[in-house]
Amino acid sequence: MAEKLAARPEPAVVAYNASLDRCTRQPGFLDRFYELFLASSEEVREKFRETNFERQKEALRMSLYMMMTAHEWSVECDAHLEEIAERHSRRQLNIPPHLYDLWLHCLLRAVGECDPAYGEDVEAAWIRVLQPSIDLLKSRY
Ligand code: HEM
Repeated sequence: MAEKLAARPEPAVVAYNASLDRCTRQPGFLDRFYELFLASSEEVREKFRETNFERQKEALRMSLYMMMTAHEWSVECDAHLEEIAERHSRRQLNIPPHLYDLWLHCLLRAVGECDPAYGEDVEAAWIRVLQPSIDLLKSRY
């Protein structure tokens, strides 16, 4: 752990953070993500039937930064991520694992549209940072 404390963030984290900042500076980023995600499947639309999207966008914005911290410190230790996992599990929101692949696909499309610096490296950085959190949420289903 001491080594991790002293270490600089890995390049993927730096690239992800910069891209996320560019995206969230665009007012339409998370609107576009939810537009794509809702359009992608009836099952998704059903889950968000009663959602207040202003609240939901803010919750997602925060968790996009939170997953970056979790990636750096080990997702297995992140209490906030465990809470999100429990909330999405079959015991509460009942989000089946296959919907996370759709979620990531739609998010990357929204990033591609909103980040002028988007390219292979930026996409790889998003996947590298988010995949461990996604895997954890799936595993807690
Ligand atoms: C890594 C991926 C994801 C993250 C980080 C994430 C994050 C969040 C957060 C922070 C909340 C608010 C929690 C709360 O209200 O207590 C939330 C709510 C929710 N999420 Fe996710 N989510 C993810 C994937 C998904 C997927 C794949 C679905 C599939 C449809 C989904 C559906 C929902 C629903 C239905 C809610 C509740 C909305 C409401 O309050 O009406 N999430 N999510």
